[in-house]
Amino acid sequence: MAGFSHKTIEKNSILLLVLVLVVVSIGGIVEIIPLFWIKSTIEKVEGIRPYTPLELAGRNIYIREGCYNCHSQMIRSLRSDVERYGHYSLAAESLYDHPFQWGSKRTGPDLARVGGKYSDEWHRLHMADPRAVVPESVMPGYPFLAETELDTRTIALVMQANARVGVPYSEEMIANALADLKAQATPDADASGLLARYGDKVPVRDFDGDPKHVTELDALIAYLQVLGTFVDFDLYDPKRDDNDR
Ligand code: HEC
Repeated sequence: MAGFSHKTIEKNSILLLVLVLVVVSIGGIVEIIPLFWIKSTIEKVEGIRPYTPLELAGRNIYIREGCYNCHSQMIRSLRSDVERYGHYSLAAESLYDHPFQWGSKRTGPDLARVGGKYSDEWHRLHMADPRAVVPESVMPGYPFLAETELDTRTIALVMQANARVGVPYSEEMIANALADLKAQATPDADASGLLARYGDKVPVRDFDGDPKHVTELDALIAYLQVLGTFVDFDLYDPKRDDNDR
């Protein structure tokens, strides 16, 4: 035993390093190996769909403006979270988020289920000047979003990039990116193609109150209004074991 005492290990840095690696890999293996036997680490949940081109563009604005610095999109299973924000977030709800927007800071409230909580009108006022609707707010205003025409030149490429990392955007969805984007934000446009591709629950309307232009605010509100709305929690049953099927 004397040859393998703690003293020997502590004096021999190579031996120490090898043993550290062995111990650490046991921890890693215990965590990683079981994942190979579970069919899917993300439970399939009905209702989850990829973002429409307009919502995806809004999501890019959310990232560009750094909204994640103050807002999380991850409702923990803690009672305080669930009572304030609703059902805890499911892994499947960020399945098509690249990169995910869970965040780690809540200067403002969690936004994972903000969709449908307020009217578009409320969002318009709030984004232009948060203090117009919430007097004590410390959120900055983003009045320029309503005045900035949405840059749509890259949306098909953004969808292609998402498709490459596993978001099920079809060739047809990518080819129709621009048409679908415009149709969703234009009240009287023919949105049948958009609805056929993304489902008839997709909200189609003029989000920013300016029907003539598709602005960055259209995209951002379209995105905010679907957050947390994909899964119907009256139907969702967390006890159902997806791995048995
Ligand atoms: C400096 C921190 C900060 C930043 C950056 C920020 N917010 Fe906020 N946000 C807040 C605070 C604080 C509140 C709560 C008061 C209020 O409603 O204005 C809030 C509230 C909200 C709400 C209402 C949530 C609810 O459930 O009542 C929405 C929606 C929102 N923010 C969206 C955004 C978006 C989109 C961006 C990026 C364009 C953004 N915020 C950037 C701090 C921030």
